[in-house]
Amino acid sequence: MPFNKAIAMLDSGVGGLTVVRETFMELPGERIIYFGDTARMPYGPRTHREVRRFTEEIMEFLCTQDIKMVVVACNSASAAGLPRYQGTFDIPILGVIEPGARAALQHTRSKKVGVIGTAGTIQSGAYERAIKALDPTVEVFSKACPLFVLIVENDMTEAPETCRVAEEYLTPLKEAGVDTLILGCTHYPLMEDVIGRVMGDGVKLVSSARETAREARGTLKSLGLLNPGPYPEDGCRSGHRFYCSGPPAPFEAIGKKLLKQKVKAYRVLF
Ligand code: DGL
Repeated sequence: MPFNKAIAMLDSGVGGLTVVRETFMELPGERIIYFGDTARMPYGPRTHREVRRFTEEIMEFLCTQDIKMVVVACNSASAAGLPRYQGTFDIPILGVIEPGARAALQHTRSKKVGVIGTAGTIQSGAYERAIKALDPTVEVFSKACPLFVLIVENDMTEAPETCRVAEEYLTPLKEAGVDTLILGCTHYPLMEDVIGRVMGDGVKLVSSARETAREARGTLKSLGLLNPGPYPEDGCRSGHRFYCSGPPAPFEAIGKKLLKQKVKAYRVLF
């Protein structure tokens, strides 16, 4: 049955697991097939053309699996060419940028919204366009934070120098008076504590992960592809599958910490 198929998700590394975590909560009956391109991360400093090529390679691989939808759980890959992927592959494909922009507008009162992301995402202007399309009166302040991805992938979020790096990146946004900050990279929710400490209590941190999981539910429902259950005792957890292009061990360690369950990853080489 088509609704029994899995939802595929992809990212350059472990960041997209933040979208998986939210999807587990929003859609407990769905099976996830995840791909982290850990051998070729970070995507942020690469050209859009190269990121599109990697993303399309991964999509081709994912489309050989038993899937019903793809979530591009990576802002850099979404910014590099979501409409193009949607035009190329004959399967519903969601990105993370519009859901993040929508979530930010629900929170801002001052209409000053900050966006942090990789160099590629910030240079693309994708968030600014998505926000302005929804509300042209909102002021957007953007800042690329390239080191954050490396901090997360190397499991250094608690390291003392991480706080100094965060202060350097975030102080201009704080000074601009934003009341809402979009974590425009799926890796950044894993640094939420330090980002929150630097920005202070008055600033709402928005991750697109939850909103994306909600959008996935809405899309599946409207297409008649939502898995109606009943679910087995352990949900469909045993059916999830994780792939990465680099060595599985570091991916499995961060995955276990984040998803609070054992993660077995299989290596796929391109
Ligand atoms: N997590 C990704 C994003 O949302 C990519 C980070 C990277 O590889 O630079 O942009």
